[in-house]
Amino acid sequence: SGSGAPLLAQRTVSRSIQLVEVIAKGKYGYVWHGLYQEEPVAVKIFSSHAENAWQRECNIYNTTLLRHENVLAFLGADTVSRVQSCTQLWLITRYHELGSLYDYLNKNQLSRQQLLRLLTSAASGLVHLHTNIVGTHGKPGIAHRDVKSKNILVMDDGSCCIADLGLAVVETMFDDSNCGNNSTSQQNSKQQHQQPHQHRHRNMLGVDDYNIKVGTRRYMSPEVLDGSIDCERFDSFKKSDVYSFALVMWETARRCCVDDKCEDYELPYNNMVPSDPTLDEMLFVVCTSGFRPAIPKRWKTDTILKAISSLIGECWSYKPDGRLSMLRIKKSLIKLNQHLDD
Ligand code: ADE
Repeated sequence: SGSGAPLLAQRTVSRSIQLVEVIAKGKYGYVWHGLYQEEPVAVKIFSSHAENAWQRECNIYNTTLLRHENVLAFLGADTVSRVQSCTQLWLITRYHELGSLYDYLNKNQLSRQQLLRLLTSAASGLVHLHTNIVGTHGKPGIAHRDVKSKNILVMDDGSCCIADLGLAVVETMFDDSNCGNNSTSQQNSKQQHQQPHQHRHRNMLGVDDYNIKVGTRRYMSPEVLDGSIDCERFDSFKKSDVYSFALVMWETARRCCVDDKCEDYELPYNNMVPSDPTLDEMLFVVCTSGFRPAIPKRWKTDTILKAISSLIGECWSYKPDGRLSMLRIKKSLIKLNQHLDD
């Protein structure tokens, strides 16, 4: 990973961080476990081609007051010059030892209490992002656009926080030119020829919004896959997040044991598409065939799992308007918690 080169810190933050080990790897670069004055921190180091994602994530954290117990806490950002003139872009956040929900579900089975705690807290984080709060401690609505189990972290108390705002869009910066208007790849390539690069829309975050199909393909909503998403409305992106969250609920509920039985960990659509599926493969399964992940039979025999399966069904419908809001999902999950306490 080129970590042998000495670091030449430009600012104080990164100079006093000691990198310990790589804990995650993505398209953007690497996440390190680091130490800042003996406190554990996570350092996301973006490769130079992912500068947009770094910019976007820094800007969202810096310009909107994003303090919430279920949103990964931002500690700082820095640029670090290395020898051989390459610049590293750092994003420093709190470190969570248990790692992502994806890691956690692979290693652990859950009780119904644990299941509800994971899902309710993750839903709370997404509600906070989605909500436009007015007033001095307000914030604009933010849609995540890359909701998946690898972008949700599990904290020591068994609750979750939402991570990775590298693709997020902010409501206040919305105008009518967010869409690449690319309903088919043919149209898409035509469009690219018609529009010279310098005329592509760049929003106030300085990020090129030309391509709408930017999230993780496996978790993309039907309207993103088939290009029918109404990009002029901010709400469309929130509804798309809800679809992806339905897949996360499905992944999580599978690991919930009742009478010592649960399903093995599986990525959504694992049995329908290959690993790293193409857009066309996802389009065929999700839109053309209308398939969704199977709901295991045993879920019908447990009140909690049965309620969660109907919640999931109301969140992954083909039509965006048929889906529940994140707030509705959170409230339903809280109600189920109370059910367990009775
Ligand atoms: N993986 C990605 N980000 C992380 C973080 N902040 N803490 C622990 N694991 C992570």
